[in-house]
Amino acid sequence: MKSNALLSLLSDREIHSGESLAHKLGVSRTAVWKHIRKAIADGTDIRTIRGQGYQLVSALDLLDRDIILGQLNASVRERIQLTVLDEVDSTNAEVARLLTSAPLPVVLSDCQTSGRGRRGRNWASPKDQNLYLSLGLSIKGGFSALDGLSLALGVAVANAIEQVGGGEVGLKWPNDLFAQGQKFGGILVEIQGELQEGCVQVIAGIGINVHMTQAEDVDQPWTSLDKRWPDQAWVRNQLAAGMITQILAAVTEFEAGGFRQFRERWQRRDIFSGLPLVTRDGELKGVGGGIDETGNYLLKTAEGEIPVRAGDISLR
Ligand code: BTN
Repeated sequence: MKSNALLSLLSDREIHSGESLAHKLGVSRTAVWKHIRKAIADGTDIRTIRGQGYQLVSALDLLDRDIILGQLNASVRERIQLTVLDEVDSTNAEVARLLTSAPLPVVLSDCQTSGRGRRGRNWASPKDQNLYLSLGLSIKGGFSALDGLSLALGVAVANAIEQVGGGEVGLKWPNDLFAQGQKFGGILVEIQGELQEGCVQVIAGIGINVHMTQAEDVDQPWTSLDKRWPDQAWVRNQLAAGMITQILAAVTEFEAGGFRQFRERWQRRDIFSGLPLVTRDGELKGVGGGIDETGNYLLKTAEGEIPVRAGDISLR
């Protein structure tokens, strides 16, 4: 049996039982199952619905836990506890609830009812469109060892997106993701509680507009991956697997050597480099000068380079 025959039967994106597929293709149910497994391993988004059958999901771009797990290396798969939900208040909040029972909880949800952004903002989280991903990370060292972590995560997420396709992903300090001058994603890092056995519990939440069509409650200009790079097939399962892989690799590197080793990689993506900037409170004006070794943004002023430690910077 050719896999194409199987995929063309599935292409109506209805649910097909193994029995009906076997009958139509003139093969055994075991042969169907083997071809489904092979197609999934080759990257085709096929959902297995227990007791019902199989469904081709890529055009709908449905989130599917098994597909994501299938795209992870065994070493990553074994480290994480992956939860994929239809709806949740916030994936960061869900990870916070799971942190006590799971060593490395990773939560994805198809939508969020109270998605949160930086500085107390709301994060628009409509259903079926975007990626809402959070990881509960245990970072070795004290709180000071966290300097620059969120920037290192920005590098990891940008790498994961570029591996799928599209074009260059830019970073706006501290950790907004930009494409061709517009924001399509952000990272919210929240520190959880006390130091535990020399580790700090950190929740890293990543929001990426993938197929965002409209958002009434967004208070800043935005774009989405499929608007910026419409020729690319953006598959949320693939993006999620890539981000989980890149983030865990970045955390290992960060724990071993701190932010310093990410500095160059971050600066290559800096959308503000050389541009006239002003801090949010309007107090400091200068030209974008990149970041220092702990992740502060450097403003070049007449008095020299001044590090900005927190807050937002914008174009003058
Ligand atoms: C920003 O303000 O730019 C950061 C946005 C972070 C949004 C993500 S979506 C997944 C996770 N859950 C949340 O409630 N927020 C983060």
